Amino acid sequence: MTMSKTRLAVTCHSMGREDLPEVLVIESLSFAEPWTEEMFLGEFSSEGIAESLVARVDEGPGERIVGFLCAWVVGGELHINNIGVHPSYRLRGIASQLLEEVLRRARVKEATAGYLEVRASNEAAAGLYRCYGFQPIGRRRNYYDHPQEDAIVMRKTPL
Ligand SMILES: CC(C)(COP(=O)(O)OP(=O)(O)OC[C@H]1O[C@@H](n2cnc3c(N)ncnc32)[C@H](O)[C@@H]1OP(=O)(O)O)[C@@H](O)C(=O)NCCC(=O)NCCS
Repeated sequence: MTMSKTRLAVTCHSMGREDLPEVLVIESLSFAEPWTEEMFLGEFSSEGIAESLVARVDEGPGERIVGFLCAWVVGGELHINNIGVHPSYRLRGIASQLLEEVLRRARVKEATAGYLEVRASNEAAAGLYRCYGFQPIGRRRNYYDHPQEDAIVMRKTPL
């Protein structure tokens, strides 16, 4: 059982190349095998399909990126590929706001189902996705490395 702090209002925008330095810091703080800069750049070349978002908070002198989400909307389906929130800003509803924005964008593009994979031990992420109606539909054996672990496939339909 986790105790949430108050939701911190953020603004969610499409990710730009200039956002990558801050996004890469959050990525490396969030994953044992972080996406590289090239992998994020690859998302920018998937124009029309990729929905890459950053969440910004305005704290005094300037804005700061505190979370990001990378997804694809293709063939009527939303695929969530990556999401991370800066460790200092977790449990403040930031991933929720990113997810709400990508669901909104996917519905605008008339997607009817959402899919993602999550490490079997990642209770935080699975809890987040369950809050938004994603249900486990299958398991991919040894999908992840370092450490090797199964992926749980989750689906939300309708979106
Ligand atoms: C998973 C992650 C993105 C969640 O971000 P967040 O901004 O802290 O999430 P939110 O505050 O929006 O949480 C929404 C819900 O998710 C669930 N949740 C989030 N963190 C949780 C935790 N540590 N333990 C259990 N449930 C958790 C809760 O149900 C929460 O709702 P509640 O606050 O009303 O209880 C963040 O923990 C993270 O960056 N983790 C490392 C990267 C990662 O694992 N990404 C997912 C890969 S599939």
